[in-house]
Amino acid sequence: MKHILILNGPNLNLLGKREPGIYGNDSMEQAFAILQKHFPEVQLEYYQSNVEGELINKLHEVGFTYDGIAFNAGAYTHTSVALHDAIKAISTPVVEVHISNVYQRETYRHTSLITGACVGVIGGFGMDSYRLAVEAILAL
Ligand code: DQA
Repeated sequence: MKHILILNGPNLNLLGKREPGIYGNDSMEQAFAILQKHFPEVQLEYYQSNVEGELINKLHEVGFTYDGIAFNAGAYTHTSVALHDAIKAISTPVVEVHISNVYQRETYRHTSLITGACVGVIGGFGMDSYRLAVEAILAL
């Protein structure tokens, strides 16, 4: 059975309440339950933190044994060399995920410091971006 981690960064604990015009009305708990139904053959785990170091610790913890990580780093996407280095340091493939299409938004969201360390990027499909990222990991 494949092990895949869905990893969310800052402010993504507020999905469903946070800027619903951009991020939709679904909570991550609802979205995760839908994901589990969609991939009954995959052992999915969910972890969220607002703290950069905790995200790095989680990458280190699972990054040599899991089959893939679908990672929405939130705003740290645009700022964090440390997350880039953590993704580079592990052997598990990481797919960068965004709910919104960051290229339709502010220019400071057009730069990602983590894309170069990831196997690919999925963004702009709402909460379905997570399903597409899991599909991409399974197809690797
Ligand atoms: C986001 C896009 C980021 O720019 C933003 O800071 C987020 C969410 C997305 O999923 O669309 O927190 O990663």
